[in-house]
Amino acid sequence: MLLHIPDVLSAAQVAQARAQLDTADWADGRVTAGHQSAKAKDNAQLPEGSPVARELGAMVLEALSRNSTFFSAALPKRIYPPLFNRYSGGQSFGYHVDNAVRYDRSLGGAEPVRTDLSATLFLSAPEEYDGGELIIEDTFGTQSVKLPAGHLVLYPGSSLHRVTPVTRGTRVASFFWMQSMLRDDGHRRLMFQMDVAIRRLTQDVPEHPALVQLTGVYHNLLREWAEV
Ligand code: NI
Repeated sequence: MLLHIPDVLSAAQVAQARAQLDTADWADGRVTAGHQSAKAKDNAQLPEGSPVARELGAMVLEALSRNSTFFSAALPKRIYPPLFNRYSGGQSFGYHVDNAVRYDRSLGGAEPVRTDLSATLFLSAPEEYDGGELIIEDTFGTQSVKLPAGHLVLYPGSSLHRVTPVTRGTRVASFFWMQSMLRDDGHRRLMFQMDVAIRRLTQDVPEHPALVQLTGVYHNLLREWAEV
């Protein structure tokens, strides 16, 4: 499932992030790439654990913790601390698959995170740059993603993806991975669809007794499938 989640960050939060990122010390993005993807990767990245990355990463995580659509779609068990990257001057990232397991260095490198889901949070407005589309090979075909600043795309960590060359301006984004309580993408999609339906019914027919039964089915399926 590929999901566009709007307004994860407010315009003020995007502006604050950009003010800090535009004056930050960037490094070569290849430092976090695996052996294969290092060959395809050409961008700049904030060093993991740098003060700006930590501060803005905390802001992103805090925003996600208040976003019910994100929680419902990802059912996150562990989120890797958000990273930040920047593309300009023709930079791109060719087709690759992200590493299956990441070790969270903020926890001493001891905590493995299986990358069930990948996320990109756009921090540049689409008008600021040409190119820079995130191209994702989904089960439904190839998707091209370029979102307003503050919006996020969530997609399966297993998918092949790339970023097309940024031929004008600068594309700044946050990206991160998460391990879900539901390993299976199909299970996650079903649970998300059921949750969306339950929310609509809760709005439209809040007193209907079947709502309690349906909510019970949701939780009992989650109990059946969740790894916690
Ligand atoms: Ni990637």
